[in-house]
Amino acid sequence: MNRLLFVSILMLGFSACKPDLKPAKEYPAPTPVSLAQKPFFPPAVVPADNPLTVQGIELGRHLFYETKLSGDNTQSCASCHNQELAFTDNGRRFSVGITGAVGSRNSMALFNLMWTNRFFWDGRVATMRQQVLLPIEDPIEMHESLQNAVAKLQQTNLYPDLFGKAFGSDVVTTERMAKALEQFILSIQSTDSKFDRFRVNPVLNPLNSEETRGFNLFMREFSPPGSGRPTGADCFHCHGTHLFTVNNFTNNGLDENPAVGFSIVTNDPTDIGKFKTPSLRNVAVTGPYMHDGRFATLEDVMDHYNEHLKSSPTLDPNLKSQGVGLGLSAQDKADIIAFLHTLTDSVYLNNPAYKSPF
Ligand code: HEC
Ligand code: HEC
Repeated sequence: MNRLLFVSILMLGFSACKPDLKPAKEYPAPTPVSLAQKPFFPPAVVPADNPLTVQGIELGRHLFYETKLSGDNTQSCASCHNQELAFTDNGRRFSVGITGAVGSRNSMALFNLMWTNRFFWDGRVATMRQQVLLPIEDPIEMHESLQNAVAKLQQTNLYPDLFGKAFGSDVVTTERMAKALEQFILSIQSTDSKFDRFRVNPVLNPLNSEETRGFNLFMREFSPPGSGRPTGADCFHCHGTHLFTVNNFTNNGLDENPAVGFSIVTNDPTDIGKFKTPSLRNVAVTGPYMHDGRFATLEDVMDHYNEHLKSSPTLDPNLKSQGVGLGLSAQDKADIIAFLHTLTDSVYLNNPAYKSPF
């Protein structure tokens, strides 16, 4: 081979592998976050391949409030998940997407989700990692392709650096987006309600007499009139534990011809009409209620459990034994509602760590 040609090929090769791009920026390892163990709560559950870090959560918080994730740059996750209302959708029965299309489910509260194992009202998504990207592509929600969303973020001055700090590389990818959103949502905890303070120190932080009666009704088994035992409202069977949900899917008697519900996941007709039992923490601010937002107030919810249970083949057996409902007095219902108000956690609702960074 001609020597000169050889040399110039060599040089060509050289300049090709020495592109005059900026050298990849080096980022220090992100700072691990360990969430404090709270009295009466289960230990933290965090995916082994996505440990929480200060920088990962911070990126996730930006993405949660980022309108660039929607097709017309107007909607973010926070548009339908407002922190002041436990991340529910501003009292709306159904959420409205960027095209004006209206969904058919009530937006869900977001907190303590590290202790949940299925997502959405019908449980159709098994992991948070999968869950967080779905609203972006959903045509009646944010209606944007993940590819476009990634490209839009990559072009900003802000995000390459935030991704670099969180994941060691300034390249935006859908997987890193999902991981950062997962970290942010897992970091959202509600553990400091009046009720929590009462549990930790009942002498310093007592419940008043209505709240105490309401709590006792909530925690006691139903006893039919004439049984001679004090009656209970039986709520704890599904809304029990310190999380105020036992994380089950049940039919709580809303309809005679119930909706598909959890059977969409299992294909099992015995799961028709079963929906995720929501936590009752912060329930005073999350109305309207149920998967389709059919009840405007907690009074309406109490009337449902008290006198309007609808029987169907999959109705929960505990509720079935109550006939049309609990038959509580007006005072009993009011006391249960007073107790539910003790589950409102204003520390969480106002926590600056969950607010918009913009
Ligand atoms: C247009 C309104 C809207 C937008 C935008 C939206 N959500 Fe939601 N979100 C909902 C509704 C409605 C549900 C319940 C849907 C269902 O059950 O089918 C929900 C459910 C969820 C849940 C499940 C909670 C649980 O307990 O199972 C999570 C987590 C969530 N959203 C996170 C997000 C994230 C992250 C974003 C942004 C990427 C987002 N949402 C954007 C309306 C919205
Ligand atoms: C058999 C299980 C079960 C029992 C018992 C039960 N619930 Fe529920 N509860 C559910 C399920 C499931 C839902 C969601 C149903 C849906 O949306 O289709 C729900 C929803 C609710 C909601 C609406 C929450 C929201 O975010 O929309 C409130 C409030 C509520 N229940 C309060 C109570 C009270 C108070 C009691 C006791 C009187 C009680 N529940 C007893 C299973 C139960």
